[in-house]
Amino acid sequence: MRAAAEARHHAVAPYSRFKVGAALLTQAGEIFSGANVESASYGLTCCAERVALFRALTSGQRRFVALAVAARLSGGPMPCGACRQLLAEYAPNAAVWVADSRALRTVREFSVRELLPAAFVEIPKYSD
Ligand code: THU
Repeated sequence: MRAAAEARHHAVAPYSRFKVGAALLTQAGEIFSGANVESASYGLTCCAERVALFRALTSGQRRFVALAVAARLSGGPMPCGACRQLLAEYAPNAAVWVADSRALRTVREFSVRELLPAAFVEIPKYSD
């Protein structure tokens, strides 16, 4: 949670001004963090969770224990649908911890399965 709160300071959020930090803990004990990056073409914005996940994946990491997410929001920020999809594919067993960056000790924990039940995780093979 501390790494997520620290990463939040590096958010690039000139449009929403809503800064989010995320940190992924690997089974080997390494932490990969990220923050949201916004675009003038709003839809291109990338959430903190995906930035952290993409950093970890492209560093060769595949086994994750937990994802921490922090923002200045009571109860903490819940990952969006797009991030839930990627977590279901690449970090299905990670615990998801969310907290208000002003109260990091109050953590809510979720499983990826409960955040995205019945996820689409495999492309079917077509024979035609
Ligand atoms: N955002 C995240 O980075 N993670 C979340 O869990 C919720 C939303 C970002 C995207 C956008 O830059 C800003 O918060 C407002 O939606």
